[in-house]
Amino acid sequence: MRVLSGIQPTGRFHWGNYFGAIRQYIELQHEHEGFYFIANLHALTTIRDPQRLSQLTLDAAIDLLALGLDPQRATLFIQSDVPQVSQLTWILMTCTPMGLLERCHAYKEKKERGLTADAGLFTYPVLMAADILAYDSNLVPVGQDQVQHIEVCRDLANSFNHHFSPVFVLPEARILSNAAKVPGTDGEKMSKSYNNTIEIFEDLKSQRKKIMRMQTDSRPMEQPKDPESDHLFQLYRLMASPEEIEQMAALYRRGGFGYGEVKKALADVAERYFAEARRRRAELEKDPDTVRDILQEGAARAREKAAEVLQRVEQACGISAATVTTSNALPQ
Ligand code: TYM
Repeated sequence: MRVLSGIQPTGRFHWGNYFGAIRQYIELQHEHEGFYFIANLHALTTIRDPQRLSQLTLDAAIDLLALGLDPQRATLFIQSDVPQVSQLTWILMTCTPMGLLERCHAYKEKKERGLTADAGLFTYPVLMAADILAYDSNLVPVGQDQVQHIEVCRDLANSFNHHFSPVFVLPEARILSNAAKVPGTDGEKMSKSYNNTIEIFEDLKSQRKKIMRMQTDSRPMEQPKDPESDHLFQLYRLMASPEEIEQMAALYRRGGFGYGEVKKALADVAERYFAEARRRRAELEKDPDTVRDILQEGAARAREKAAEVLQRVEQACGISAATVTTSNALPQ
């Protein structure tokens, strides 16, 4: 069983990235072969500052290692270091109906907001399909917002397998029910594009300030509340111990408490939860060469696997130099 996932270096990672996706990478590396990459080609659809993209890419690698991704167990690499994926993207594009991409949410949302989309954003799900199919991936741990893209990937793989021969493995999405859509500071899905994120490695003081300014609902303090429907509680639950969660839930049900108390408790558990990762990050940051070496070793392993899959694909659709034939060789 091979597990694969990617994450864009479009900003520093936030709690949504961690609880929805990164935490799964770290858990799964103990059970299965894992391929994890930093999706810098996808990020090019939004970041046009080369220095910023390159810095965020290294930051992303450091963050993943600090959070517990173990290069002895999992393969960590940068997406653009595997050119086979871009080659595969073109091949898949020739089997991709326009209508399928027109229904994809990233493109649809941008269009609805009256913004102009480029071909990179439009064909983004095809690159993502190539990312997955290039490594014969079985399982793709992600948050809810990526499930549609994995469906597209399955459609494209099915269509190719049907037109040519069954060369692609069909992947399954893996989402965690308690963190499929982690809420942000305003209660909507936490997302860089909604400006409602709390970053994992944000300076502690400014993180606490941000938490204390989080939006809350306007019901009176005395009124008992359902903890499950409140975004502060949803976040608290991700980081607190079972006893703490039970106590907090009881407080909500009883009513008569201030949201300030919950926010303070949330800032405290968050600080404790990521303390060890912060320490590891500070160490790793001092040694970027080691991180670069890890990425290069990872890329070499990833290229080897992707080359094997691409060769199979090229043979299946008749574009492999090794197997092209003259018309005389064709059956009469
Ligand atoms: P990206 O970079 O937007 O997000 C990375 C991962 O974080 C998850 N996530 C969330 N999960 C729960 N709650 C949230 N609020 C939240 N916000 C983000 C995302 O679901 C994702 O799993 N297209 C992908 C990157 C990608 C990829 C791939 C993923 C490129 N190729 C191949 C899997 C397989 C993306 O933009 O994720």
